[in-house]
Amino acid sequence: MKRETRVNHPPAVELAPDNRPVVAPIHQSVKYAFSSVEETVRNGRGERPGFSYSRISNPTVRQLELLLAELQGRADCLITSSGVNVIAQTLLTLTRAGDHVLCCIETYGPTRRILAQILGRFGVSHSLVSVLDLAGIERILAETPTRLVMFETPTNPITRIADLPAITALARRHGALTVLDNTFAGFHQHGEYDVDYYLHSLTKYTAGTGDVMGGAVIAAAPLIERLRPDFDLLGAALDPHAAFLMLRGIRTYFVRYREQSRSALAVAQFLHSHPAVARVHYPGLETHPQHALARAQMRDFGTIVTFDLKDGAEAGRRIAEALELYALTPSVGSTESLILAPQMIGTRGLTAAQAALSGITDGTVRLSIGLEDTADLIADLDQALARITD
Ligand SMILES: Cc1ncc(COP(=O)(O)O)c(C=O)c1O
Repeated sequence: MKRETRVNHPPAVELAPDNRPVVAPIHQSVKYAFSSVEETVRNGRGERPGFSYSRISNPTVRQLELLLAELQGRADCLITSSGVNVIAQTLLTLTRAGDHVLCCIETYGPTRRILAQILGRFGVSHSLVSVLDLAGIERILAETPTRLVMFETPTNPITRIADLPAITALARRHGALTVLDNTFAGFHQHGEYDVDYYLHSLTKYTAGTGDVMGGAVIAAAPLIERLRPDFDLLGAALDPHAAFLMLRGIRTYFVRYREQSRSALAVAQFLHSHPAVARVHYPGLETHPQHALARAQMRDFGTIVTFDLKDGAEAGRRIAEALELYALTPSVGSTESLILAPQMIGTRGLTAAQAALSGITDGTVRLSIGLEDTADLIADLDQALARITD
């Protein structure tokens, strides 16, 4: 073999069947080959297990899919390249012209914009209703045949809690699918409820280090099979190296989520007693209007603490800029703490009446609590808040 040929066919290093790596290798290959045409064709027809092309499936990505499905208590999962992408692909795949979608006002902004801007173009209509308005949800489902209900819990940014038994029962009764963006709650929560599709931004808690992006949809096997043909064609595959980084990061997921939630509660308690703060939104606080529901549905209350300042947006800007440990940036779930100032939280795409129902005020600030020392995080907030109370 000439060297030009050799570099394209390097020596194979086989592992003995009783000799395995403790950490699974990254299958950083786009293509997979069989040694016969017949087996290649059988694999293409789904008549034998195997991989062919990493846009369709890849062993490293598949390992992460199977792990996430198990954590969420379902049989299967599909992973794509971002949280927004998995929301868009799931909504596109499950709907057709003439369908109606019921979406909660308190969903992540781009979710509502996907419905308005993309699905609307293809003849899919939608209604918005507050996640707290169970009577409104029931009325719309009774009046308008609805393909699916799209919602979140805890909601972003106000941390409202969706009543999972009530909403899933209403959707079931009216023949609508439920699609829950479960990003804030994480993979270990809400699996026992009658939700059809769980969506996650993997950009948040999976690796936890804020350096890799992805999205996942998790459901029973037949529900995932309904998505697979369109997902294959839409082609937003996750790179195996990103999946490997997530498989590495997720090893510490439970310790991180628990510790960040513990710190978030302490931060929420501190803010609750601060004179500059009008209201704290954290489901773990007994003063949260849905604390009992959160306690019934959740094991950990999450890492997001939102609060309303008495002095509005300008005070929020000054605090955000005075903080030293909280990075002024969107996203959540990283090991470093983050802050969104009121100017970064808007109610884009909502009417004035819907914006009023969203609970967002001009003094709303959102914190994502990381893994720093809790006392340091509180001291930093204390010094920043002192600037507006002095
Ligand atoms: C609740 C929720 N869903 C989805 C997303 C989108 O995820 P990604 O940034 O991975 O596209 C976000 C991002 O902040 C989010 O907060």
